[in-house]
Amino acid sequence: MKQNDNLEITGLQAFYGKSQVLRDISLHVDGGEKVAILGRNGMGKTTLLKAMLGIGGVRRSGSVIYRNTELTKKQPSDIARLGIGYVPQGWLLFTSLTVEEHLIMAYRPSKDGNDWTPERVFDTFPEIAQRRKISGTSLSGGEQQILAIGRTLVTNPQLILMDEPSEGISTKVLDRITEICDELAKNKKSLLLVEQNLRLAVTIATRIYILVNGQIVYQSTAADFKDDKQKHAQYLGI
Ligand SMILES: Nc1ncnc2c1ncn2[C@@H]1O[C@H](COP(=O)(O)OP(=O)(O)O)[C@@H](O)[C@H]1O
Ligand SMILES: [Mg+2]
Repeated sequence: MKQNDNLEITGLQAFYGKSQVLRDISLHVDGGEKVAILGRNGMGKTTLLKAMLGIGGVRRSGSVIYRNTELTKKQPSDIARLGIGYVPQGWLLFTSLTVEEHLIMAYRPSKDGNDWTPERVFDTFPEIAQRRKISGTSLSGGEQQILAIGRTLVTNPQLILMDEPSEGISTKVLDRITEICDELAKNKKSLLLVEQNLRLAVTIATRIYILVNGQIVYQSTAADFKDDKQKHAQYLGI
């Protein structure tokens, strides 16, 4: 069967216990595409990523297909092996590992000749290279975000799921994250970003979906949504 790098979510429902958080989510991210899901706090963005990965105690039904595989029937470890990388909200770094050890422990060489090695991450992000021998959790917030992204890059994923990279970081770091995402797209990687930050989402992504109370209520190109103040107010309250 031909490898298909499109992600296709159809009719996804997600629950914590009996409480339903996502309702009938359908969306797609084509191979090499950068897509953002925008939504305010508590709308279900993190739950959507966890439901795709089968983690965090989320019960799910519906269909999530990637690389000809139905992810809702797979274990999280099998899903990671399909080439899906995850940058969690809040970074989840280890106090007991140095910056460098985070990258070395996570490294999985690429098969396609475009290998993100720990050294390549340090070349790309000199701000963390200088601090490679200190504990990951001793970095500033922005540096921890960069390390969390670097840790995902060295797994050499084909599809990256990124949860609110803008949270608690400076505009300067946001610009760096935008540059990395551009670089990923040049290498035909796909990106699914979930964000509250409108500016970051429309700068990085070419298409956006809006999530309100666990449902996709709107979708558009980023170019069309960028300056549509009426829709920003309607869906994001800004
Ligand atoms: N582990 C959990 N158990 C029960 N409810 C949860 C859990 N995590 C999140 N929720 C609830 O699910 C809804 C969506 O949360 P979340 O996906 O974290 O939203 P977002 O990432 O958009 O801020 C919220 O109402 C939140 O309170
Ligand atoms: Mg969240």
